[in-house]
Amino acid sequence: MTTTEQCSKLVKEVYASFDASHDFEHIQRVLATARAIAETEPTANEKIIELAVLLHDVSDAKYATSKDIEATILAQLLLSDDEQQQVKETIAAVSYRGGYELEATTIEMKIVRDADRLDALGAIGIARAFIFGGAHGSLIYNDDDEETHTYESEEAYRAKDSAVVTHFHEKLLKLKDLMTTAYGKKLASQRHKFMVQFLQQLSAEREGKI
Ligand code: ADP
Ligand code: NI
Repeated sequence: MTTTEQCSKLVKEVYASFDASHDFEHIQRVLATARAIAETEPTANEKIIELAVLLHDVSDAKYATSKDIEATILAQLLLSDDEQQQVKETIAAVSYRGGYELEATTIEMKIVRDADRLDALGAIGIARAFIFGGAHGSLIYNDDDEETHTYESEEAYRAKDSAVVTHFHEKLLKLKDLMTTAYGKKLASQRHKFMVQFLQQLSAEREGKI
């Protein structure tokens, strides 16, 4: 068994307890997208990318029962100290943090981040947002939510219990301009258009216009 296969087996059990917006299917889609982007970036280290994708959500504070799941799994894999460090740093650069994200300085960080964000866009992005909202008791939309959709800190973003349509404005519609790879930008632009169309249709339906 390769290190990646071993890691895949270990994380699968962890994601089995997360809701369908962050389950192992999310990981498999992000893997497929990350591999597609990596094919266009010849210097990328595939092993680091695949391990970072597999592990990137296991210690997410919204789901994880223990902060150390990522470290525990990493310690069970046959990796050099340098590889472990690279995987950890790549994962840390993925999260959006309400706009207070870390800088993606390596090609591996850029690829994993773009691939994860692409899974928040398009048809799958819409599906995930609503299944997340359902799992957290959110509203479909809330006309009283602020217009600006920016937060003074990561904590303020995390603390807010946004309606799903508000989440499109506070995060999902901003992602296309934050893509870092050429192929990621291309896919994001197509998926963004589809979401804008969805929101327009939703507004029109609310007013009985369609
Ligand atoms: P990050 O960890 O990068 O800050 P999140 O874990 O907050 O990102 O978000 C991951 C995905 O979960 C989003 O792209 C979206 O699909 C869903 N999500 C997060 N917060 C909300 C919300 N308030 N309403 C609907 N979907 C959400
Ligand atoms: Ni993710």
